[in-house]
Amino acid sequence: MSKKLVQIFDTTLRDGEQVPGCKLNTNQKLTIAKQLDELGVDVIEAGFPISSPGDFNSVEEISKIVKNASVCGLSRAVKKDIEVAAESLKHAVLPRIHTGIGTSDSHIKFKFNSTREKILEKGFEAVKYAKKFVNDVEFYAEDAGRTDNNFLAKVCEKMIEAGATVLNIPDTTGYCLPDEYGNKIKFLIENVKNIDKAILSCHCHNDLGLATANSIAGALNGARQIECTINGIGERAGNTSLEEVVMIMKQHPQLNLDTKINSKLLYKTSQMVSESMGMPVQPNKAIVGANAFAHSSGIHQDGVIKNRETYEIINPFDVGVNESAIVLTARSGRAALAYRAKNIGFELTKNELDVVYAEFLKFADLRKEVKDEDIPIIIKKSNLKSTISL
Ligand code: KIV
Ligand code: ZN
Repeated sequence: MSKKLVQIFDTTLRDGEQVPGCKLNTNQKLTIAKQLDELGVDVIEAGFPISSPGDFNSVEEISKIVKNASVCGLSRAVKKDIEVAAESLKHAVLPRIHTGIGTSDSHIKFKFNSTREKILEKGFEAVKYAKKFVNDVEFYAEDAGRTDNNFLAKVCEKMIEAGATVLNIPDTTGYCLPDEYGNKIKFLIENVKNIDKAILSCHCHNDLGLATANSIAGALNGARQIECTINGIGERAGNTSLEEVVMIMKQHPQLNLDTKINSKLLYKTSQMVSESMGMPVQPNKAIVGANAFAHSSGIHQDGVIKNRETYEIINPFDVGVNESAIVLTARSGRAALAYRAKNIGFELTKNELDVVYAEFLKFADLRKEVKDEDIPIIIKKSNLKSTISL
């Protein structure tokens, strides 16, 4: 059975960049956009053009250089926003306008002081207006995670009628549980009459650490686009992390889902985004964190040295990391010490290793990590009677 293709909509340059401290200049955005295009994302959300002249300029410049992906600009359900978004996208090969409005009762009442009927009308008019400029119009039902499913189905139906090609179902507050979010997508697939004319998109936030699980649940229930960011950067606790959803689909073929992403570029892209934004990647971050392929306890190191797959479910090479790391600490075992010593040219016999290991533990207890350059010092201190030349 052929796998179902899930489109990857990257919003690093919009939802990611709106995080305090992560602002990028146009040149940095262009470099990242080029990398995202090479990575193989289907859509690059390049910014929110009406928000500032700088953002408008970035979307316009990105539109000129992106060769393969659609380039998308965000707007509210406001005519002026849509006009400005369209103008910023005029050079794009595949332009997309992303417009929408809050649909939960809380947004309708407190943000808009409006009614469901008026919101439906406003969304409809916005999509219709955006269609005058571009063919590809995505509608977001903000706070869909907390929107009543029957009303959400009405919203989707109406926006498809207006010409929306993609219906974005954001869990804006990161509140949903995976079952709940998956069932929401299933409900929409089963209850929106014209759903065959559009695709559903997952846009999940990570307030409860569930953004990745929710997005996968959405895709398993029929969504054909996932909105995500590199390193999971985004508002508050972040967005769905691109590298996580891509590798879940790759590592679990039984899900029958696939993307067009070249996973070998994931690590490089992660580093590029982290460096440009000045936002370090947490060391234990899945897939791209510094410790994602590092082993430091003796039991794990021994297992990995015998066979990498004992403690690794992903080949680091598949995400662009050169090799697994055997890190030497006071919790490391003899196997790790012998392995690292051998890598820098010291082949220790079993007896020699016993002696050097005792010295190593004394040394390691005094520091966080033992480096390659420390190994000859430890061997020298061990006073071996053998022929090892130092
Ligand atoms: O989280 C959200 O609801 C959004 C929309 C603007 C798409 O980012
Ligand atoms: Zn968002």
